[in-house]
Amino acid sequence: MKLEVIGQNELEGEIRISGAKNSALPAMSASLLTDEILLKNIPIVEDIKSMALLIKGLGGEIIIDEKNNLIRLNNKKLSSLEAPYEYVKKMRASILVLGPLLTKYGEVRVAYPGGCKIGARPVDLHIENLKRMGAEIRVEHGTIIAKAKGKLKGTRLNFEKVSVTGTENILMAAVLADGETIIENAAKEPEVTDLANLLIEMGAKIEGAGTDIIKVKGVKKLHPVEYSIIPDRIETGTYLIIGSLIAKKLRISNVIPEHVRSIILKLNEAGIFPEEGSNCYSVKKSEKINPVDIETQPFPGFPTDMQAQFMVLLTQAEGRSIIRDTIFPGRFHHVDELLRLGANIKKLGNGEVSVMGKTELSGAEVLATDLRASASLVIAALIASGKTIIHDIYHLERGYEKLAEKLKKVGGNIRKTE
Ligand code: UD1
Repeated sequence: MKLEVIGQNELEGEIRISGAKNSALPAMSASLLTDEILLKNIPIVEDIKSMALLIKGLGGEIIIDEKNNLIRLNNKKLSSLEAPYEYVKKMRASILVLGPLLTKYGEVRVAYPGGCKIGARPVDLHIENLKRMGAEIRVEHGTIIAKAKGKLKGTRLNFEKVSVTGTENILMAAVLADGETIIENAAKEPEVTDLANLLIEMGAKIEGAGTDIIKVKGVKKLHPVEYSIIPDRIETGTYLIIGSLIAKKLRISNVIPEHVRSIILKLNEAGIFPEEGSNCYSVKKSEKINPVDIETQPFPGFPTDMQAQFMVLLTQAEGRSIIRDTIFPGRFHHVDELLRLGANIKKLGNGEVSVMGKTELSGAEVLATDLRASASLVIAALIASGKTIIHDIYHLERGYEKLAEKLKKVGGNIRKTE
């Protein structure tokens, strides 16, 4: 599938932000800890469908109500405890079944995640911390084979590096472990807090989610719940940038402003001041954009998942900006594609690029290489002159719900073709 975009149409209207993919995926994994869950505000995107297939493969029953963004999961009778390579290679978040299955059933096999377009994404810290909880884990023939004799044991754990899915895996393992688990240097991302809130609703005893130290007291059993997922802060940030570049007025609704503070601060530095409402923003095209330097950091810092999109904004700034990705230093595949549209960007090595502006962009054929890189190409296409064809939009559909429809509704000239 391809996306065809004719650029430079001024946008106006309202875009409603969908539920957070990176919150919905761990929530679906957490459903493995109990019998039944109803999840609301689920974005219907490819990664969610992949996770549904993975859980179905384990024997779970799943009903997806696409129209109402609901998913009901029933995991009473699982028939398998293995996440095979075909799912893991498609979606790295498959690793999130490791913690819940191990703690509840005492064993699990998950294909070892391989390389990925955005760079090395090891899972050594997930494994190391589960071992400290008493699990026996070995990697054989490309599969992580984990076993626990009896219950996992609560203990003091530490993440040498902040890891989002790592913290989530350990959190899910700890809720049914024996005794107290203390997770030091835990990830503070809103998606981690959302998972903790879901687990608390299910009966888990968790304190400190959203801070560096999370304390979990294991319980015997968790119960069924209904739970609504938080709005997607990366989708919010993506539309904030689109609005800043090419909107007469864009209202972005169903957002949680405190989750996008670091993005707003960088926009402010660039001279862009979206108006904040209680759960919405209004933003319009900025006539003059200042260059800014960006360094990605774990939350509450500037997210690596927004780096590619912000890079496009900076092609329109007057002067030189430096972007440094400290989380995934090789996450710059979008640079080569943006060059095809006429951007003036240089890879400096060591996870750094420089962006020189302001450059007029002109439409071209480009290749979507990963999820956020694809979003950056859509933004570039919207401001470029003429037609841009974005190939391989599968990546985009992994994470952005109804992107083409949402943009069309506010005046974008964008369509999907075979
Ligand atoms: C999650 C997000 C992803 C986002 C990323 C960083 C989901 C499904 N994915 O990915 O969208 O880009 O956070 O915010 O929520 N690391 C290790 N060993 C480990 C684990 C991680 O060295 O065992 C390193 C990684 O190489 C990376 C850093 O830690 O440099 C952060 O990775 P991590 O937070 O684990 O990323 P993901 O959870 O895979």
